[in-house]
Amino acid sequence: MTPVAVFDEIAELFDTRGAAAYLGEPVSMTEHMLQTAHVAERAGAPAALVAAALLHDIGHFLHGFDDDAADHGIDTAHEHTGADWLRTRFVDAVSEPVRLHVAAKRYLCATDPTYLAQLSVASVHSLGLQGGALSPAEVDEFARRPSAEDAVLLRRWDDCGKIAGGATPPLAHFEQVLLAVMRGAGADDE
Ligand SMILES: [Fe+2]
Repeated sequence: MTPVAVFDEIAELFDTRGAAAYLGEPVSMTEHMLQTAHVAERAGAPAALVAAALLHDIGHFLHGFDDDAADHGIDTAHEHTGADWLRTRFVDAVSEPVRLHVAAKRYLCATDPTYLAQLSVASVHSLGLQGGALSPAEVDEFARRPSAEDAVLLRRWDDCGKIAGGATPPLAHFEQVLLAVMRGAGADDE
């Protein structure tokens, strides 16, 4: 699949699935993902992390569960669905922070005493389904993962991307960023 075809595939997913509400938040899935990428870009993140921010919840478009799965006590493991999909199309610096962005939330709950209070109601609810705060042993294991620091950055931007009516560029603004970090597109295939 060519890079342009991958971008078209992503645009199609945003078009067909992105208008759905984002899990009890006051934004749609598309708004949430664009806001997260916009925050990452303004923070000066490298292209791979801006791409990860933009696509971190793409697993919600792909996992096949109903949109209200969390209301029924189901953890969709969207981070793994999304990361597995991304890994065939993008370098690891995109897919692996996405894989760890839920673990990063559990890590921050265990290590930052102020973090839990910053989470939205919906995010606290899903935290329970995702296993709650990491144990001390799990904290150590998480911190040793090569993408841990990037995943924590991504997580904090993720938490900022839930602003009703927040202004963002359109998806097309990020096309060149995505093309630059696709497999075989010149970026390092780690
Ligand atoms: Fe998110």
